[in-house]
Amino acid sequence: MTDLTFTLSEAVRLPAAEREAILENPGFGNYFTDHMVSISWSREAGWHDAAVLPYGPLAIDPGSSVLHYGQEIFEGLKAYRRPDGSIVSFRPIENARRLNESAARLALPELPEELFVEACRQLVQIDADWVPAGEDQSLYLRPFMIADESFLGVRAAEKARFLVIACPSGAYFTGGVKPVSIWLSQGLSRAGDGGTGAAKCGGNYAASLLPQQVAAENGCQQVLFTDAQEEGRIDELGGMNLFLVRADGTLLTPELNGNILPGITRRSLIELAEARGHKVEERAVTVAEWRAGVADGSIVEAFACGTAAVITPIGKLKAPEFEIDFGENAPGTLTMSLREELTGIQTGVVADSHNWLTEFVPAP
Ligand code: PLP
Ligand code: COI
Repeated sequence: MTDLTFTLSEAVRLPAAEREAILENPGFGNYFTDHMVSISWSREAGWHDAAVLPYGPLAIDPGSSVLHYGQEIFEGLKAYRRPDGSIVSFRPIENARRLNESAARLALPELPEELFVEACRQLVQIDADWVPAGEDQSLYLRPFMIADESFLGVRAAEKARFLVIACPSGAYFTGGVKPVSIWLSQGLSRAGDGGTGAAKCGGNYAASLLPQQVAAENGCQQVLFTDAQEEGRIDELGGMNLFLVRADGTLLTPELNGNILPGITRRSLIELAEARGHKVEERAVTVAEWRAGVADGSIVEAFACGTAAVITPIGKLKAPEFEIDFGENAPGTLTMSLREELTGIQTGVVADSHNWLTEFVPAP
């Protein structure tokens, strides 16, 4: 199963001048590369038909389970161009593992980890010209799996498809590394005990869209979700994990309680901070603790982290009846130095002493 070979039906290329114009300012998620990878699955045949195809619309049966019951999962990882011209990816095996954890929760088939990494490599290799070299730029890879059996009974589909698409990306938040404001969701949750909060499935993001709109109406770029059962217990943002920094250098982040996504950036930052001698507490954190800590000076920084957002300083937490404002302390010093170390490893200016990088394309 893992020795599947990828067929290439047709190589297509956007004219170089058009591609270069896009790469100058790609934003996030606006443009897609020339190709995509597709692998099919059925209960009888397992994984088959691995192909690199021109990027384009999918023919999908209107009865497909994904369109009705949302049986879908996805991943997000980046490929970086290093100064020597090689292209690397950051901990792709961790994304492969997490995809399989999501697959298990959504009753989708597991994909061999090496096949996941190989699918990403195939796409990056053929679309290598799309990996930008500018500051804070990378190629964002979006592997995803959909259930595509045409059957309206409510049960796990017997057919699925795994695809990888990619978009050149700059900063997720426009305006560079500026502190963002986040809105404390009022009464709307993305996850609850026993639900799918720890899986990376489309449904969680669908649930976050309305609160995200409310956040935008209140002048905020992201929404912070608290636990649906326990009032005021912080989970995470719509698409990022959250860290607080204490004045003594201790990092504080909500524990993996089954409701939040186990972020690969989150895990990597914990390892980097601990290697520097910082204490990291993974435990229940409440909004009340955050408020009290900022008021008495014991909490001095806050940041969000994720593949798309990298590390983004938080300047304000807003709610109808209060506001936490880091004012001139944002962006915080530790926030920015962890950001520098992480992005330095990813782009090759800091030694990869943890062995986190996987080379997809060698230096020319
Ligand atoms: N939490 C949510 C809800 C996310 O969508 C993401 C992004 O993937 C993260 C956290 C951060 O995860 P990672 O660092 O693996 O990208
Ligand atoms: C990511 O960081 O990969 C995410 O999934 C966040 C967002 C773009 C959904």
